[in-house]
This record gives sequence, C-alpha cells and structure tokens, in this order.
Amino acid sequence: MAGMTSSARPLLNRRLAEFGTTIFAEMSALALRTGSINLGQGFPDTDGPEEVREAAVRALRDGRGNQYPPGPGIPELRTAIAAHQQRRYGLAYDPDTEVLVTAGATEAIAASLLALVEPGDEVIALEPYYDSYAASVALAGGTRVPVTLRPDGNRFRLDLDELRDAVTGRTRMLLINSPHNPTGTVLTREELAFIAELAVERDLLVVTDEVYEHLVFDEAEHIPLATFPGMRERTVTISSAGKTFSFTGWKVGWVTATPELVTTVRSAKQYLTYVSAGPFQYAVAEALALPDSYYTGLRDDLRAKRDVLAAGLTEAGLSVFHTAGTYFVTADIRPLGESDGVAFCRALPERAGVVAIPTAVFYDHQEAGAPFVRFAFCKKKEVLEEAAHRLKGAAASG
Ligand SMILES: Cc1ncc(COP(=O)(O)O)c(C=O)c1O
Repeated sequence: MAGMTSSARPLLNRRLAEFGTTIFAEMSALALRTGSINLGQGFPDTDGPEEVREAAVRALRDGRGNQYPPGPGIPELRTAIAAHQQRRYGLAYDPDTEVLVTAGATEAIAASLLALVEPGDEVIALEPYYDSYAASVALAGGTRVPVTLRPDGNRFRLDLDELRDAVTGRTRMLLINSPHNPTGTVLTREELAFIAELAVERDLLVVTDEVYEHLVFDEAEHIPLATFPGMRERTVTISSAGKTFSFTGWKVGWVTATPELVTTVRSAKQYLTYVSAGPFQYAVAEALALPDSYYTGLRDDLRAKRDVLAAGLTEAGLSVFHTAGTYFVTADIRPLGESDGVAFCRALPERAGVVAIPTAVFYDHQEAGAPFVRFAFCKKKEVLEEAAHRLKGAAASG
C-alpha cells in the first residue's frame, strides 16, 4: 500500500466527509455495554408472518431466485406491487415498464438521487430527515435544502410558506417522506395538495418515501403524492417490504413511476446492486397479496404498543408528540429540565437502562431538534412495559 495514499489527503472522499459513524452504532454499542433496552434503531423484535417466511423457504428450496433475478425484479413481484397500488390507491402502473424492484427503499432513494440530480442541483427535504437522504444527495453532488418541521401543539407541522420560499431556480427535486420518520407526523391532504401544486407550478421532480404507508393510526390517512393532479408523471414513489411485513433484513424495496422515470432510476440502480434478494422477492410477492385483515392487525398491534410507550414517557415526565404514523414516538425533554437531547441520550442507558436516539442528528439546523428524542415502539409489549417502568423509576429517583 505504501505510496498509494498521500498522508495529506483523507481516505474518505470529500462528498462523504461529513458523514462519520452513525449515532445508531454508538447507541447500539451503549445498549449492549449497559444491558439496556434498545429503543434506538427502528427494527421489530418479532419477525413477520409465518406464511411469508415459509414462502421464502419454499422459494429457496425450489430453486427460485437463487441465481440473478431479472434486472427490474421478478415479474410476480412487479405484478403484485402494481396490484397493491391499484387496490389501495387506485393508481395504475404497468408492471413491465413502471415498476422497479430495489435493494430496500434505501437503494431506491440512492438510485433516484444519483440518476436524477446533477452537481449544483438543489434538493429540498423535510427536516428532520432519514439519515440516508443527506448522504444520497451528497453522493449525487446535489445541495440539500432542509425545510424544518416544527412543533405545533402535539404534532410537527410543515410550514407551507417556508416550503414555497425554499424553491429557487436551481431546485430540481422535492424529497418527501410521509408518514414521517422521526416525527411520526402524517402529512394531511391539504399539505400534500399544496406540495403537489407547488411541484406542478415550479416543474419539480418529486421523490416520495412512503415506506410507512401501512403504519397509520386513528384518524390519520396515507395518501400517495402520485394521486394528486399532475403528480403521476413527475413522482417517483418508493416503498419497501421491511416495515410493512416486519422483515427489515430482507431489503426488498421498490419504485413506481412513469416508464421514463423508472428507466432513468434503473440506469443508476443497475450499477449499485444490479439485483438482490432473489428468493425473498417471491416471498414478498405473496406477502403483498395478504388480505386486508393482515394490515388491520398490524396497525392495531402497533397502535396498542404506541400507547404503552407514550403513556410511559408521559408518566416519566416527558412531553410526548402524537404519533399519527410510523413506529416512532418523539418526546420533548424540556419538562425534565433538560435541553440537550444528545447528552440526555448518552446518559439515559446508565440512568434508566433505555436507549433512544437524539433527533438533532437528523437536522442540519441542529438547534431546532436539540430537545427532542426518538423512541421506537416496534418491540414486544412486555419490552415496552419494562422500558416504561424503568423510565418512570429513573424519573422518580432523578
Ligand atoms: C423513512 C425511511 N426510509 C427508508 C428506510 C429504509 O428502508 P429499507 O430498509 O427498505 O431500505 C427507513 C428505515 O428505517 C426509513 O425510516
């Protein structure tokens, strides 16, 4: 290796220089070291439906998907994705030309940005944002322009004037996420209609991350952006099987969009993974055909878990925002006399035996997110009850 690197030059290329080790690695290590309950990372501690797991086993045994599947994804899965969009939302997509299977939503996001964004293009994203957005914009050479969701009563709200003002002559794309990680906000019909009108008026592309589409509670409703007037032709809709079917390790995601957009995104995707998850694609095709009762059951289960965690956090003295969607609760630590979420989360494992994520790490304007902390509730009910018990105990003794 001698002579291959200059000591004056960092190994990591400058586009990624600001992205060090993620907070998740630090917090998960802390959870292990302290024996804490890890409500940091958002993955379920129970696998999804047995019949879906069995479908994957069958595919493996039958030799379906053990070799490279077709580049756009297996036809069975593309057909199932198109049928899902039609059945749920009345959106018609041609499985042959308007659906692309990806290695999770994460690859769909990366490929969309790499394919559609030129250096110098601005990408508007709602802040706080899922951490891969910033890295994918950076890899594409784009400039991210955050628009901050701010607390308004018990939810985080998008300031529509701020969004309109963020659009410039260099704006290429709106990168939207609803239901929204980490705040648990679900954009309303009015907010989505405003975004759609703005995109049409300013001729912007829209990439919409809808991985939590089935995780909406109470009165909240998920409405895909592609259903609004003028949006189908400019929108790349992204979702994945991880959250909906509780198999986050399978990394089966997808894009639905016009043939032109799908072909463009595929140009980048083919050089990232080309293809992935062969046997799991067959299993997800079967999962997407599960009856409505599956989706209702998933929602009911998660709603009950949300309520256990939210009640525990409230009793422990935190101020809890309403989660309308996703499996995260965001809480404000200021009622505890604290204001620095990063310090709070670093101390929480020792203090209470619970790990959470400081929301500030998902902001460019870190001060806007400083007092907020995110807890995941996609865990067994007894785990959440124990976490709530520990938090209350720590609050009482603190
Ligand atoms: C908003 C959002 N988008 C995308 C993903 C990643 O999805 P996948 O596991 O399918 O890559 C996550 C996972 O946490 C997420 O929260």
